[in-house]
Amino acid sequence: MDDVEDIWTDLKPWYAQGDLLRVSKLQYRASSMKQDTNNKQKISTVDVNVGLYTITFPAEVESSIHIAVVQPQCTKVPIIGIVMGDRGLISRILCAKFGGFLTFGSLKSEVVSAPGQPTLKDLLYLYNLRQVAPDTKVYGIIGKPVRHSKSPMLYNEVFKSVGYNGVYLFLLVDDIANFLRAYSSTDFVGFSVTIPHKEAALKCCDEVDPVAKSIGAVNCVIRRPTDGKLIGYNTDYVGAISAIEDGLQVKYNGSRTNVSPLAGKLFVVIGAGGAGKALAYGAKEKGARVVIANRTYDRARELADTIGGDALSLADLDNYHPEDGMILANTTSVGMQPKVDETPVPKYVLKYYSLVFDAIYTPKTTRLLKEAEESGAIIVSGLEMFKGQAYGQCEKFTGLPAPKELIGKIMENY
Ligand SMILES: NC(=O)c1ccc[n+]([C@@H]2O[C@H](COP(=O)([O-])OP(=O)(O)OC[C@H]3O[C@@H](n4cnc5c(N)ncnc54)[C@H](OP(=O)(O)O)[C@@H]3O)[C@@H](O)[C@H]2O)c1
Repeated sequence: MDDVEDIWTDLKPWYAQGDLLRVSKLQYRASSMKQDTNNKQKISTVDVNVGLYTITFPAEVESSIHIAVVQPQCTKVPIIGIVMGDRGLISRILCAKFGGFLTFGSLKSEVVSAPGQPTLKDLLYLYNLRQVAPDTKVYGIIGKPVRHSKSPMLYNEVFKSVGYNGVYLFLLVDDIANFLRAYSSTDFVGFSVTIPHKEAALKCCDEVDPVAKSIGAVNCVIRRPTDGKLIGYNTDYVGAISAIEDGLQVKYNGSRTNVSPLAGKLFVVIGAGGAGKALAYGAKEKGARVVIANRTYDRARELADTIGGDALSLADLDNYHPEDGMILANTTSVGMQPKVDETPVPKYVLKYYSLVFDAIYTPKTTRLLKEAEESGAIIVSGLEMFKGQAYGQCEKFTGLPAPKELIGKIMENY
């Protein structure tokens, strides 16, 4: 079985002599190595690239930083380590920060020579690669799935517009505790957290903001610069509740009083995960009567008991009609891209609700929202929640006031 050192030993003189035939034979050997699936830590592909190796490992994102350690031969030859697939994207961007010799992108997203290659356009204009330097602070969204998230588009554009030296990445993560253990250096200063890690994130933090603790979920983790400790926050709650209050205030001619328009309303939350907890907690705080409906009834019961509300199974919701004018908030991923034809409740129940909110923001108008509008309800998109929660995260990431107008403008394009 070939390994990197053998190939490098062969390559050096051939390349120096310009023996391109042998170099291409070498590429053939390298591609045979790619077939070897017995040992994932072995080299997967080797390409000859201007006299240096471009090596791609099929690794977990958590393993990316261990490559140099697990491959002792890496210390003997000049190596460019690039991790393939969505989990490896981080290595293609952060090489600019950690002294990598090169990275590369494809001209078109549909024409790639290996999975996970970004386009040149994304490298230059999404990740602002030319600005990434050793002192650039690293942020990212931790989730699984994560590619639906608009956060990288938003925060990278905000960082660029306000002249903040940061880069924000997609982080496809299987195990958040492993991930945070691996990426423990002070270069990694802040993370957003999405499905399904918000509850696990809370357990990984050294300190948790009291509101996030009451909610039981964290969507923003900051590494405190003074001691490196991880501090967890929840900005979902304010984002979602203020979006719903704004929706109701439009109905009541924009009259703003100190009393929330949610006070006294029957507020039905579908889902009992991270977003469900934030919505249920927020609605209760505003004086609503809260009912949780969840696929797994026990989780609905547990959340209802924690915040002081009632619980239903998701199936019971189809026949739930104690009164008219209720508020419905979907906090499951049912109806999210790519499964946009799905919806968590049948259309006929929507006439009982005066406002329907969907936490999903890809697509902006879900099937649930379309059917709710057709049934006469006010609709509030997850995009409004997204903007609201982003204000809070932006302030925590940069220490600067959130550029609300800019955030609104950026999100208009998505
Ligand atoms: N707009 C925003 O800014 C924003 C912010 C946060 C989240 N979100 C969105 O909110 C959604 C949930 O996020 P999360 O972090 O709360 O996720 P989570 O913690 O994983 O919770 C998911 C919830 O959805 C339920 N669920 C999942 N698949 C289901 C299905 N096929 N049928 C019925 N119920 C199902 C789960 O029920 P079980 O308990 O039975 O598993 C659970 O209650 C995602 O779409 C996310 O993108 C949007």
